[in-house]
Amino acid sequence: MIIGIESTAHTFGVGVVKDGKILANCKDSYTTEKGGIIPMESAKHHRECADRVWKDAIVRACVSEKDIDAIAVSQAPGLAPCLLEGMKFAKKKAIELNVPIIPVNHCVAHLEIGRLTGASDPVLLYASGANTQVIAYAAGKYRVFGETLDIGIGNFIDNFARYIGIGFPGGPKIMELAKSGKYIEIPYSVKGMDVLFSGLLTNLKQKYDKGVSKEDLSYSLQETAFAMLVEASERALAHTGKKELLLGGGVACNTRLQEMCRIMCEERGAKFFVPENSLLVDNAAMIAYLGEIEYNSGIKVNIKTFDELDINPRERTDDVVVSWK
Ligand code: ATP
Ligand code: FE2
Repeated sequence: MIIGIESTAHTFGVGVVKDGKILANCKDSYTTEKGGIIPMESAKHHRECADRVWKDAIVRACVSEKDIDAIAVSQAPGLAPCLLEGMKFAKKKAIELNVPIIPVNHCVAHLEIGRLTGASDPVLLYASGANTQVIAYAAGKYRVFGETLDIGIGNFIDNFARYIGIGFPGGPKIMELAKSGKYIEIPYSVKGMDVLFSGLLTNLKQKYDKGVSKEDLSYSLQETAFAMLVEASERALAHTGKKELLLGGGVACNTRLQEMCRIMCEERGAKFFVPENSLLVDNAAMIAYLGEIEYNSGIKVNIKTFDELDINPRERTDDVVVSWK
């Protein structure tokens, strides 16, 4: 049985997995009314809720701490103070329980959890707050085929939502407003398999200042930004010859994005997979899930070498040595 800890950004989570089955997926998220995430504040939040979320997960999973074989922890990438809290907590618990730690890359976990939906070798469109990447496995590693060249899609949406005064997180609210909007032209920027959002953001803000309705702007934002993501994903499918598209990240909860991806896949004869919302957003079940896969292939750090085990805030997806495949 593997217990996983997630703490890369605003979410502190603890998940329990056994034989590929999720027994618990608990979390507590740091939120702000105004402005973005303050890393030190988020880390403080994680420190304060860690014991409670851990206990909650143990109870939900109906297991006993002594059944835990190892602790998986998201080691990378993310905000350093937040990652540090997760790592400190993981080490404390691992020493208490006398079990090894399995370091996990958060982005790869978003991809691997897709196996639960039946995807076996997909292109992942990872659309979250800070990250926007098109990732797939090729020649021994997870490769980033395309990504945002400026800001993440979620941060872009949240930034615009704050500007028009509808609060945080903006994604779900923009999705609602879009339902009664119509299309107006806004800039579209895809470069190969890369995308850019900051020009689009400026343009949307200017149009809002000139009196264009929130509904029309929300609708056009979604149609344009999501079409960019779909185009980049389709190019990655064509380039790699893969036949499956998988969604990951909080923005993937958006039903219009899901619909656009589904249509593209149908048109090119590919299969489309989308995990349930609780596994799309940042969560610890995916950390435990990938942790178990790594553990079964012999990846673990024993207590004796904990001193050498550190966080890796800037690790790139294609830096990860994939020895479990
Ligand atoms: P990262 O994982 O890159 O560190 P994060 O922790 O902010 O980023 P997630 O929890 O995966 O990412 O996703 C949060 C984002 O998802 C927010 O930007 C939020 O607005 C967006 N989001 C949530 N639900 C929806 C929705 N229905 N439509 C669009 N966006 C959504
Ligand atoms: Fe994430």
